[in-house]
Amino acid sequence: MSQIIDGKFVSETMKASIAKEVQELVAAGQRAPHLVAILVGNNGASETYVANKVKSCEELGFTSTLLRFEPSITEAELLAAVQGVNDNPDMDGLIVQLPLPDHINPDKVMEMIHPSKDVDGFHPINIGRMAKGLPAYISATPQGVLDLLAYYNIQTAGKHCVVVGRSQIVGLPMSILMQRNHPQGNCTVTLTHSRTPNLEEICAQGDIVIAALGKPEFIKAAHIKEGAVVIDVGLTRVVDESKKSGFALKGDVDFADVAPKCSYITPVPKGVGPMTIVSLMKNTLLAAKGTIY
Ligand code: GUN
Repeated sequence: MSQIIDGKFVSETMKASIAKEVQELVAAGQRAPHLVAILVGNNGASETYVANKVKSCEELGFTSTLLRFEPSITEAELLAAVQGVNDNPDMDGLIVQLPLPDHINPDKVMEMIHPSKDVDGFHPINIGRMAKGLPAYISATPQGVLDLLAYYNIQTAGKHCVVVGRSQIVGLPMSILMQRNHPQGNCTVTLTHSRTPNLEEICAQGDIVIAALGKPEFIKAAHIKEGAVVIDVGLTRVVDESKKSGFALKGDVDFADVAPKCSYITPVPKGVGPMTIVSLMKNTLLAAKGTIY
């Protein structure tokens, strides 16, 4: 039977240490780290994500500013708002919550964020620096996965890591990170995606399988080798009339099917999810301290 990776516990532990560091900074006369979130429109999931980020700032002693815009905002107006944050020396980190309305090019917006304030790690400069192994903001979810592997002392060197999904936010950076010469790296990495023909066969060769394809309960026992480490990054809302909210959150892994086979597994919820906000807070603290740039 597998050990369940408790992302809720690890995230609480890491939050406590971040809060302590912020207290020490403030006691030494520095201002608190300041995170700015830009939210365009009123997408339900985005509202929840941003509200959670603001709440975490309050809990950890950060300053936060939420800039809300109507969905009718023009691309030029949004770019100007980003520039305003870039130019404000009292603001350390900026996230622009995705998705954006169709008339706004998200790549243009990401590129407008100054790399030194890009705490989401989505700017091409941060992605390029990460790929080269230079100091960079690493995007929150992949960083959260690395922190879980480190916390549970899961050995990665020489292992075959299969990443399922090539999204810009998770799959692609995850594959780059897992091959790095780093304590949570040195894997032989296979990046699989929707055009991979023999996915089940490839996954079943993985010592570490990271599922980030966004298809609820797609990964079954047949995809997993006995004793593998399974990291589930999926988080899809599915209708569930039995729940008060009317929906349930499902990962990409069929937990009941897969868990008996693996050495470690992350559940959904309380696996990778709680780690992502911690990573964002960590990046914002690094931005306030000027550690990366
Ligand atoms: N939308 C979904 N995930 C994310 C994230 O990590 N950052 C931002 N900015 N938007 C998102």
